[in-house]
Formats: sequence, structure tokens, C-alpha cells
Amino acid sequence: MATQVVVAAPAKINLCLGVGPVREDGFHPLATVYQAIGLFDDVRVRPAETTTSLTISSERVDVADVPTDRTNLAWRAADLLAAHHGIDEAVQIHIHKRIPVAGGLAGGSTDAAAALVACDALWGLGTPREELLALAAQLGSDVPFCLGGGTAIGGGRGELVTPVMTRGRFWWVVLPDPVGLSTPAVYAEFDRHTDGAAPQPEVGHDLLTALRAGDPALLGPALSNDLQPAALALRPDLEARLAQGIIDSALAGIISGSGPTTVFLCESADHAGAVADSLEEVAGALGVFVAEGPVHGARVIAG
Ligand code: C5P
Repeated sequence: MATQVVVAAPAKINLCLGVGPVREDGFHPLATVYQAIGLFDDVRVRPAETTTSLTISSERVDVADVPTDRTNLAWRAADLLAAHHGIDEAVQIHIHKRIPVAGGLAGGSTDAAAALVACDALWGLGTPREELLALAAQLGSDVPFCLGGGTAIGGGRGELVTPVMTRGRFWWVVLPDPVGLSTPAVYAEFDRHTDGAAPQPEVGHDLLTALRAGDPALLGPALSNDLQPAALALRPDLEARLAQGIIDSALAGIISGSGPTTVFLCESADHAGAVADSLEEVAGALGVFVAEGPVHGARVIAG
């Protein structure tokens, strides 16, 4: 058995997030386009003697609210993979966090996807992709996307992923917010806004055309997020952050997923650097990041 495996786990953003009326199981039907971006947590696993444990480190991100017990999604991923193979293995999991917590960037989901990949490699299981995707879907709606990364349409409750053709790279400025937003709370607010009568969502052709063309000027007006009005209703102060990015010349700004992180589309790496510099002042202690997309999904980088 390897002595340790380290997996890089990317953040995701939603380029569009179409949301339908709540289903009987409490989830909402989604028509979304995910993109994995170059902002990574590292998830390291090592064999443990008897019991699994989990530790977290971070330089900038506030990790006070991240559980370090078996309720952590990465720990649950390790347990789920072991149970799936009928093996009894314990691991030390260490997560180095760079992705803001409860930010709408799928930080917890991507750590879970990474834990599946890391334990699969550590235990030498070679689990078929389809089985890993099914386990990922049990852990959360966007965990399957985090396994594959890139750019992909998400259907169902977000767990059914189909890769999308894109050309070139897109440059994003990511502006985290110090106060996390609860995803269920944002969906509940969405239900109140739409009175449970939202239309069935679809992915727009203009977005797919812009991605195929690799043209950020086309992509800007095609970005959309049905959860944005609900997130802004819960956090009206985010409106000013969105406006600031546009004043600072980004092509477009959008709330990421259920928020509160805002992301800004830029023309190039240099343009993104300039927009990020001008947002430093509103960013505060959490800082502001430049990230390119698309990038790969959860992938072994050492071990
Ligand atoms: O799937 P996941 O555990 O990440 O979802 C977290 C919560 O987000 C769910 O409990 C639900 O309240 C909400 N959600 C939803 N519809 C989706 C995905 C998530 O209502 N498609």
C-alpha cells in the first residue's frame, strides 16, 4: 500500500444555474453548466492503524465551521468507498483549504470527490469510473462534477453530468465573502420567490455557443443564475460587490452557485489581474483570487 496520496480538488462555478420547482424529494431540478476553476484544496490520505481521523489547515480561509468528525463529507466519502468494497480500512485525512467555505464554490463537495480518488489510489482499488460517479452522487449533487472537472452540463439535481465542448481558457476573478450562505436557505428563499411555480429549466444555446467559440465577450451576457435574486434577498449587501466588479471593468459578474462568493469574467490573465487589484480594497482579509477555467477534476498529484 502507498504511504500517502495527495489529490488536488478544484473549486467549481456555475456559468448558468437554471432551477425548477422543488421536487417531492426536496431537491430542485437543475439545468446548469459547471466549470472547474484553478483554485484548489489539497486532500491527503495516509493509512491509519485503527480509526479514521481528519485535520484541516489553511492560511487564509476561515475553517472554524468545517467539521473534523465523521460528518465531514470527505470522511463520509472514505467510509462510503470502503463499504462499497466491503473492506475495513482507516485513514488519516488532511485537507489544506484554499477554497472559501460555504461560498457556493463546492469546496466541501470537491474535497469529497478528492477523498474518493485518494482512497481509491491508496487502497489500490481501481474502482470503475461509473461506480465512483454513483458513489459521488450519494454524497452530494455536485460531487460527480467535481470528479471529472472541466466544463459540463449538470441535469437531474445536478448529479447527472455531460461534458461540454469549450475552446481556450476563461479568466475569472473570485471574490469570497466572509459570511457564508447556507445552500438550503437560498433554495428555500428561491421557493418563496417563485411560489413553487418556476418553469422547468434549460441550458441556453447562447452559452454553449460562447463556450465553443472560446469568446469571453460572448460568454459575459450569457451567464445567468436563477438563485441570484434569492441570494441577494438574503444578502442585499452583495449587490454592491457585484456592481464594484463591473465598475472595475470586468465583462460580467455573477453570484457563484448559492453564493455568497461573487465571480467576475475577464478578457485575459492580465485583465483579470487588473480587476483583482482594483477589488483588493473591498476584498478584506479573505483576499481576491484570479483563476482560469476549465481545469481538471480531482486528480492525484503525489503518491
Ligand atoms: O446535494 P447537496 O447535499 O449538496 O445539497 C444540499 C442542499 O441543497 C439540499 O439539502 C437541498 O436543500 C439543496 N439542493 C436543492 N436542489 C438541488 C441541490 C441542492 O434543493 N438540486
